[in-house]
Amino acid sequence: MTTRVVEIVRREEFSAAHRLESPHLDEAQNRALYGPCFTDHGHNYGLEVAVRGPVDERTGMVMNLADLMRLVRTKIIDAVDHRHLNRDVDFLQGVIPTAENVAIAIWERLEAELQAFPQCQLHRIRLYESASNFVDYFGRAPSTPKR
Ligand code: NI
Repeated sequence: MTTRVVEIVRREEFSAAHRLESPHLDEAQNRALYGPCFTDHGHNYGLEVAVRGPVDERTGMVMNLADLMRLVRTKIIDAVDHRHLNRDVDFLQGVIPTAENVAIAIWERLEAELQAFPQCQLHRIRLYESASNFVDYFGRAPSTPKR
């Protein structure tokens, strides 16, 4: 029998401040690289969390979207909404809070929580920094040598 795998997605929004500054660069280099993002500013972020799994015959669901909503809100949104990402968020300490790094940090935090739902797999974190800019993270890639 074929297993039908479905992807379910929860979308949330949050507003947060950040500042992009690399400890590997001096001030002039940081300013040249990040421009206005080298100073404190904010974004209205959109976060999409995609989970995949087989449809449970008993419930007709991959995972209850209410459970996914609760996880995303309590573990991520409550920690980042109306905060300064460089200073206020435990799970972002020591990283440059670009959309890339924030997406990775969100993945790692949610992946641990999703252990409680063994039939489901975290599939993608999509983080919008604006309407036109977003990043996708699919978890650690198997290390494939580049040609
Ligand atoms: Ni920014």
